[in-house]
Amino acid sequence: MTEKKFPDGFYWGAATSAFQVEGGIKNMDWEEAAKKGLVPKIGIAADHFNRYEADFDLVKLLGHNAHRLSIEWARIEPEEGKFDLEAINHYRKVLEALRRRNIEPFITIWHFTLPLWFSQSGGFERKDAPEVFARYSAYVVKNLSDLCHNFSTINEPNVFASHGWLYGAWPPFKRGQLLWFKFGKPDGTWRSAQITSHKNILTYFKVVNNLIKAHNLAYDKIKETDQNINVSIVKHVRVFQSNANPVNMLLACIARYVQSGYLMNRVIDKCDSVGLNYYRATKFGDTKKYQLSDMGWKIYPEGIEFALKYLWKHKKPIYISEAGLADAEDKMRAGYITRQVDGMWCAIQDGVDVRGHMYWSLLDNYELALGYEKRFGLVAINYETQERTIRPSAYVYKKICEANALLE
Ligand code: BGC
Repeated sequence: MTEKKFPDGFYWGAATSAFQVEGGIKNMDWEEAAKKGLVPKIGIAADHFNRYEADFDLVKLLGHNAHRLSIEWARIEPEEGKFDLEAINHYRKVLEALRRRNIEPFITIWHFTLPLWFSQSGGFERKDAPEVFARYSAYVVKNLSDLCHNFSTINEPNVFASHGWLYGAWPPFKRGQLLWFKFGKPDGTWRSAQITSHKNILTYFKVVNNLIKAHNLAYDKIKETDQNINVSIVKHVRVFQSNANPVNMLLACIARYVQSGYLMNRVIDKCDSVGLNYYRATKFGDTKKYQLSDMGWKIYPEGIEFALKYLWKHKKPIYISEAGLADAEDKMRAGYITRQVDGMWCAIQDGVDVRGHMYWSLLDNYELALGYEKRFGLVAINYETQERTIRPSAYVYKKICEANALLE
């Protein structure tokens, strides 16, 4: 048997995001869109807001020593500039529950959903959006930093901007247009766009640039609060590769820059570390057939090695903040996780400073524009009864976490 060891102190866990599991969040853009029938109803989701203690017992039982969660902006700042102490106290209790179990928390300050007052007044199209976001970020960190050391500002800025302003698939449902060309075709994350308007493609870039400014400003404000906090951004990296055809090589190079390089080059100076979300790869000129996940995405978990190496050019420590599979029958998940962890191990052997791995997701959850049908969880949720059932693949991951190694 060979043993592929991970560095001492490596963090193993799973991730969730507030609105995908908590339930009962009012006054936010997705809830409003659901009321209008533009996205599936959210309701009480996995009721994690009330069941976090029991859910963290499962986290402990599964051998995790870390957990990634997000804070719901609409709960913390229900009206512009007015902060809700009760909501902060809720998250303090959540963090204390993790600490009591010796589980290291990793907080994402904002994961996709916006308070209604912000989205209705223009959201990230607003000129002062970076200031508004930085004020909220600083408030969160100031009130939680005694319980948590790791804060990510924004989850997947590119995915947020492209789904909202290029494809018109997520709030605010604006579709990008360049002359007569309209962007976006369903890619597994959405089926049909509920477009409310067509926007010049420049609006998309305006949003991306505001997100860049928002991260950078939030970084400064957080550091004013506490110098020692580990601040990162969470970047979705789609791996773009190609065969030896020079045209395909050029396409891969352009795709890498548009999807990741443009943004990363502008935020990296304000990152102590980087969070990597990895799900997908495109190889230009590839004719190989792949198995598909329940999302219809090609199964290529070892691609995580290339995503890590791509981000490592910035020479900042990397935490895998999400990587996982929709697999309702749990037939492929164990193998997927093993191959993914192996890819991460290969990257570490080649010198990449990877410090943690959070599987997406701890629980089945609200998969954005697709509602509850996709099953990413290590733990299955019965949405009728809220019963939790640990999937067999979760025990395969547990072995890895507890051994801090891949045993083959
Ligand atoms: C997002 C999650 C989402 C997952 C699976 C990631 O891009 O951060 O919120 O559920 O992908 O689609």
